[in-house]
Amino acid sequence: MSASAHPDVMDKLVSLCKRRGFVFQSSEIYGGTGSVWDYGPLGVELKKNLKERWWTSMVRLRDDVEGLDAAILMHPKVWEASGHVAGFTDPLVDCKVCKGRFRADKLEDARCPQKPSRQPGQAEACQLTEPRLFNLMFKTFMGPVEESASTIYLRPETAQGIFVNFLNVQQSCRQKVPFGIAQIGKAFRNEITPGNFIFRTREFEQMEMQFFVEPGTDMEHFETWKADRLAWHHSIGLSPARLQYHQHAGSELAHYARAAFDINFDFGGTLGFQEIEGIHNRGDFDLSQHQQASGKKLEYFDQQANKRYLPYVIETSVGADRTTLAVLVNGYREESVAGEDEGRVVLGLHPALAPIKAAVFPLTKKDGQPEMATKLADELRRAFNTDYDATGSIGKRYRRQDEVGTPFCVTIDSESASDQSVTIRERDSLAQVRVAMNQVRGWVQERIAL
Ligand code: GAP
Repeated sequence: MSASAHPDVMDKLVSLCKRRGFVFQSSEIYGGTGSVWDYGPLGVELKKNLKERWWTSMVRLRDDVEGLDAAILMHPKVWEASGHVAGFTDPLVDCKVCKGRFRADKLEDARCPQKPSRQPGQAEACQLTEPRLFNLMFKTFMGPVEESASTIYLRPETAQGIFVNFLNVQQSCRQKVPFGIAQIGKAFRNEITPGNFIFRTREFEQMEMQFFVEPGTDMEHFETWKADRLAWHHSIGLSPARLQYHQHAGSELAHYARAAFDINFDFGGTLGFQEIEGIHNRGDFDLSQHQQASGKKLEYFDQQANKRYLPYVIETSVGADRTTLAVLVNGYREESVAGEDEGRVVLGLHPALAPIKAAVFPLTKKDGQPEMATKLADELRRAFNTDYDATGSIGKRYRRQDEVGTPFCVTIDSESASDQSVTIRERDSLAQVRVAMNQVRGWVQERIAL
């Protein structure tokens, strides 16, 4: 755990997210489901925009990466070959007194539920068991019979769907190595100590890409992806000062990894810098495991060089939910406004990620202003998510939009009917410009596509 110079805004964010419809606790009316969250109307737009941004940069804008949407349920042998059945475990300890369960390797991050709350094992009364290994995969049964032969797992990562489809994609798209396969999808882990809102949950989404390269060229591709991925996090507006690389060394380096770096984001408070993305050079571990376990050749045939080989894999793996949280933490600010008594809460989201791109207000309910505003909002909706708000003072309407990160507020006033123009107010600078009504759509579109 590394303390941060940035304030802890998590409690304020959790409250804002519920109040404004970003994130709700799953099954809340039944008391909630442990570390599972639902995305509300604004949250689903924010996360969708983030995923679209990733998909565009990783798949659409490149001709050397193909998309995939593999099933969550896979043949159980996949998870034996990948090493997850034997090794996807965390060491677990129980306390016989408070009945708490903790990760033995993360005791310093945990708090005993008994008061005064301290690290488990530190109070005299604590009675911790010896650590035992706990597999994080969720198990279920396929078909009507609940027996071990029909055991199946909810995938704990999306990557394996890519490995087992390596040749399908390569051959159907006539790709040549080096090339990549990317997908976005749900993953499930029965985490022992989930928490920190949507930071560590039991159901989450990953955005993963495996780049297949010729052995010997792997470190060069690894360095390129490492730089590209950090640049992507900058491009979604995460502050460069809150991002840093963390190199895996010694025992932290997975046994199959030839090199590994995380991209860490500073979440503020005691959470501090934490991983949001991993970039790994996995060598040929996965393809060779699946080749051996399935008995199917997974080698790539390089026609030009007339040779066959198992490619090495550079993996980039980023959590959609964790990055959504990073974007919210990064954007949250409270500030005073010159000439006003009340300050404001702003989500300074990158315009491309903002759930609502523009809000249209009639200044008053007179002179046909609501009708003009409704017509304009309907036109804007065809191009991007638009809100219409006619209730409360104009100041209150601005504040409501600032708090959810809407970059542009468009006001129809008493002059709009005669000069066919509107006022657009920008969220961060508070600058106001007069724009012709028929130019608003293009004006906003230009600024949200940055
Ligand atoms: N295929 C490699 C892999 O899954 P990972 O480091 O275990 O690597 C990659 O996970 C990313 O997935 C993490 O950087 C994080 O953003 C996200 N992630 C992992 N476990 C998570 C959890 N329990 N809740 C939310 N996000 C999680």
